[in-house]
Amino acid sequence: MQNFYFYGLENSSDSNSKKQVMAKEILGIDVGGSGIKGAIVNVETGELVTERHRIETPQPATPRAIAETIKKIADHFNYNGKIGCGFPAVIKNGVIKTASNIDKSNIDVDADKLFSEITGRETSVVNDADAAGMAEIAFGDGKDVKGVVLVITIGTGIGSALFTDSKLVPNTEFGHIYMENGKVAEKYTSDAVRKKEDLSWKKWGKRFNKYLTYMDFLLNPKLIILGGGASKKMEKFNEQIKISTPVKPAKLLNEAGIIGAAVNASLK
Ligand code: BGC
Repeated sequence: MQNFYFYGLENSSDSNSKKQVMAKEILGIDVGGSGIKGAIVNVETGELVTERHRIETPQPATPRAIAETIKKIADHFNYNGKIGCGFPAVIKNGVIKTASNIDKSNIDVDADKLFSEITGRETSVVNDADAAGMAEIAFGDGKDVKGVVLVITIGTGIGSALFTDSKLVPNTEFGHIYMENGKVAEKYTSDAVRKKEDLSWKKWGKRFNKYLTYMDFLLNPKLIILGGGASKKMEKFNEQIKISTPVKPAKLLNEAGIIGAAVNASLK
C-alpha cells in the first residue's frame, strides 16, 4: 500500500488523557443481512491481526440494534480506537440513503454519528461493496491496475465498486440494473436467489454470466473481481463465464469487506 497516514485514539496509561497515536491496527466491521462480523486489521498489510468475531444480525436490524452489536464486537476485542464499518446501502456523507436488504428504518440515519455515539468510538461507515473493492485495490489483484476495475460482490444482494486508476467512484448500485428479462439483477442472480431457488451452480452460473456480459458491455473494464460469499466457490461456476475480460475471485475472499472498512477508516 502507498504511504498514507492514519491516526487512531488509544488509551494512554493515564486514563484522563486520550492521546493521538499512529494506529495501523483498526477494527473493521462488515454489516450483512445475516451476520455482523469484525476483526482488527493491519491496514498497512491488509492482514487480520485477530480472529473474526461474528454476531447474528439483530432482527429487526434497526440502526440502534446494529450499533449496539458493533459495540459488542469492539468490547469483545477490548478495542478503543477508530472503527471502520461496511454497510449494505448507499452511504452519502455518513448518512444511509437506501435499504434494499436491511431494515427500512435505516434510511436517512446519520450512521457515522449514531454508531460513534453508541459505540463510544469514532466510526466511519462506507458502502460494503465499496469497502470490499478498496481492499482488493489495495492488497489484491486490483493493485496498480491502470484503467477501469469493476468489483462485484455476490451475497444476499449484489454489490458493486468501480475504480479507475485505483480511484473509487463511490456508491455505484449495479446490482440493481434491469436484465433483458425485466428482472432486477440482484433478484435474479444473487447468492440468496441461488439458495432460495435451489439452482445448481451450472444454472446459476449461466444467469450470472448474462449479468457479467451486460456489465462488461456497459463498462468495458480491464478486470472484474468477484467478492462476497460466492467468490469462494468460483471453481463451481467458472466454466459458465464466457466473457473475454479477465474475471478473478477476490484474493481476500469474504474478508475483503472487513479489511476495506478498516482501510477506509484509516484514511479519515
Ligand atoms: C445494496 C448495495 C449493497 C449490496 C451488497 C444491495 O442490495 O443496494 O448498496 O452494496 O446490496 O450488500
